[in-house]
Amino acid sequence: MVSKPHGGRLVRKLSSEKTKERILDEKDEYPKVQIREGIAVDLENIAHGVYSPLEGFLREEEFQSVLDTMRLPNDLPWSIPIVLDVSEKDLNFSVDDTILLFYKDIPIAEMHVDDIYKYNKKEFAQKVFKTTDINHPGVAKVMNMGDYLIGGEIYLLNELPNPFEKYTLRPIETRILFKERKFETIVAFQTRNVPHLGHEYLQKSALTFVDGLFINPVLGKKKKGDYKDEVILKAYETLFKHYYPKDSAVLATVRYEMRYAGPREAVHHAIMRKNFGCTHFIVGRDHAGVGNYYGPYEAQEIFKNFPDLGITPMFFKEFFYCKKCKGIVNERICPHPMEDREYFSGTKIRNMIVNGEIPPEYFMRKEVYETIMSFENPFVDG
Ligand code: ADX
Repeated sequence: MVSKPHGGRLVRKLSSEKTKERILDEKDEYPKVQIREGIAVDLENIAHGVYSPLEGFLREEEFQSVLDTMRLPNDLPWSIPIVLDVSEKDLNFSVDDTILLFYKDIPIAEMHVDDIYKYNKKEFAQKVFKTTDINHPGVAKVMNMGDYLIGGEIYLLNELPNPFEKYTLRPIETRILFKERKFETIVAFQTRNVPHLGHEYLQKSALTFVDGLFINPVLGKKKKGDYKDEVILKAYETLFKHYYPKDSAVLATVRYEMRYAGPREAVHHAIMRKNFGCTHFIVGRDHAGVGNYYGPYEAQEIFKNFPDLGITPMFFKEFFYCKKCKGIVNERICPHPMEDREYFSGTKIRNMIVNGEIPPEYFMRKEVYETIMSFENPFVDG
């Protein structure tokens, strides 16, 4: 049985052709707001139910409740504020207006304005990211946001152009796919990286206990030094071709901008995958973390607060290569001391690649390495 959507019903906020035609005919009559890519991506996720039960951007009461309690006012778990910010000079509308949201010159959505409110950026940062340090990429983004938030329901008018359409599945599609495959239990894997052997062991250990594995890399703007979208995708395609069981593993992407909010984001990632129909969610070491802002297993501990989440987290200790075990293991199964261990580090592997060194085969599959090397510059420049 695939998971029930969060809140019980899969949200679909797509305008009918008729409404769309009418609005686009009259588009000059509506106040317009220009949005950046991250907001457009959130809109897309609201419209296709990835963020069910949200039907729009958070209103003030919902926003405050998410910040303070990690729940919506009706007590449903919700850990990351999904908000639309505008600056004072762009406030050319008022409560109860219908506005059009434009990404570049595409009208992406109409929105009913229920609420316009000011908010405290430091409080936002402290509660969501547990820091106000602007070196944290999530905090930096919040500090650059407009001073007002706009809450209200949206309807999608146009899909965002998507270079990875072929690999993108919506919750409505994965739900059908999982049923067709007769999966009763499906574990989701969130990632923003090209796969190393640690990732592979994590996924395969989890798959040992369930019917299906849903690998769901997030594509979209990332921070400097992260892998480019097309590199992540090609690397996974290669890995799948050579090393994954075709009947139980599914690869599909979702567009989403990482927040790097560690524990809170892990809960959000789980909710997204519940909406895709998954019953289980992998949380490993330092999930959605950045720098040293979060403890290595903080993103696991936070799940204690959410016995009512409706998707079961699967926790794993850090995987590493042990020279004595001659295999990839973790501290629960390996008795050997630190000196025998080679830890997976994204930075270490990246530095090897940048310096023209081939990562050892216990770090990265040769085929994956070759795929990365087929790109002139595999990393985000920032
Ligand atoms: S994340 O930002 O999406 O969390 P990444 O793609 O590196 O980053 O990680 C995806 C998942 O794999 C997360 O659940 C993370 O905790 C887990 N993970 C990554 N490396 C390891 C490792 N060596 N051992 C255990 N879990 C890991």
